[in-house]
Amino acid sequence: MLGENKVLFSGMQSTGNLTLGNYLGALKNWVKLSDEYMCFYSVVDMHSITVRQDPADLRQRARNLLTLYIAAGLDPEKNCLYYQSHVSGHAELAWILNCFTYMGELNRMTQFKDKSSKHADNINAGLFTYPVLMAADILLYQSDVVPVGKDQLQHLELARDIAQRMNGIYGDIFTVPEPYIGKVGAKIMSLQDPAKKMSKSDENPNASIYLMDDPDTIMRKFKRAVTDSEGCVAYNDEQAGIHNLIDIYSACTGKSAEEVVKEFDGKGYGDFKMAVGESVVGVLKPLQDEYKRLQGDKAYIDKIIKENADKAQYYSNKTLRKVQKKIGFPVRPN
Ligand code: TYM
Repeated sequence: MLGENKVLFSGMQSTGNLTLGNYLGALKNWVKLSDEYMCFYSVVDMHSITVRQDPADLRQRARNLLTLYIAAGLDPEKNCLYYQSHVSGHAELAWILNCFTYMGELNRMTQFKDKSSKHADNINAGLFTYPVLMAADILLYQSDVVPVGKDQLQHLELARDIAQRMNGIYGDIFTVPEPYIGKVGAKIMSLQDPAKKMSKSDENPNASIYLMDDPDTIMRKFKRAVTDSEGCVAYNDEQAGIHNLIDIYSACTGKSAEEVVKEFDGKGYGDFKMAVGESVVGVLKPLQDEYKRLQGDKAYIDKIIKENADKAQYYSNKTLRKVQKKIGFPVRPN
């Protein structure tokens, strides 16, 4: 809580091209929840450098992502949309939290294990302590709720553990955040291997729908999506490819899995895939159009970046000063 307000925090990395998984698992829920909470939505560019980045590319992607937040329907006058690297409190709090987090806890993080096997030549300390920076993002704003996809749940549990640990030592210092996982779309899988999540970093471009894919590309990728030889649209774990397509269709149309199964009763996979593709085009087209329009409005985006960074800095300082005082850092003279 910040004063009277319940707070929501979430973020996305400005790395790679955003996928339909990012949209259905996170961004769509952000928009849905944005009226209920005081919201902080960050472009977490500091997280991105745990993997080597080209500087110009990283900068451009951060801006694109912030523009996309607005295009998706987040009102920058009501929601705080900002770059993590513009607010010094994230790194400052992360250092403090590092001193209250155990190596054993970080060793158990599955994302660390995955990423360190993918980037075996660059297993840096940042990759290891990444979940602590994520905890700092969340706790810095006294967040009540954090909407994420399922893959981030383990990190969120850690943030809760750190908050509870420090509350136990210093008294009431942090709000303990709750995850918000959407009912549908919380784990969108690869179109080429439904055992793997859809990911920005997948090497096979047919595995993911990118938010900026044009309609023909989207339809082609769905036509090629891996299914099975059952030939019947049913919702069960054995038909993982069809299960994933039903989830996507449900998330895009608002229909339940049962309704979808009924709708395609007796129809072939070809028809079903076309319908899924069309529902995705229907969702992404307005987002793409608005994104292109906003990209032309440089002055507006610059103004948002400046104002929202100041706002985030203001609120984050409140928590930071409180924590610094509680743990015994000298108080700053006025
Ligand atoms: P990132 O950038 O990998 O993903 C952004 C959001 O998209 C969700 N997501 C998915 N949801 C459903 N299906 C998928 N296939 C899929 N892929 C990604 C993620 O769960 C996430 O919600 N560490 C975070 C960023 C972060 C953060 C935070 C999030 C940094 N600090 C504080 C919340 C709160 C990350 O790398 O997300």
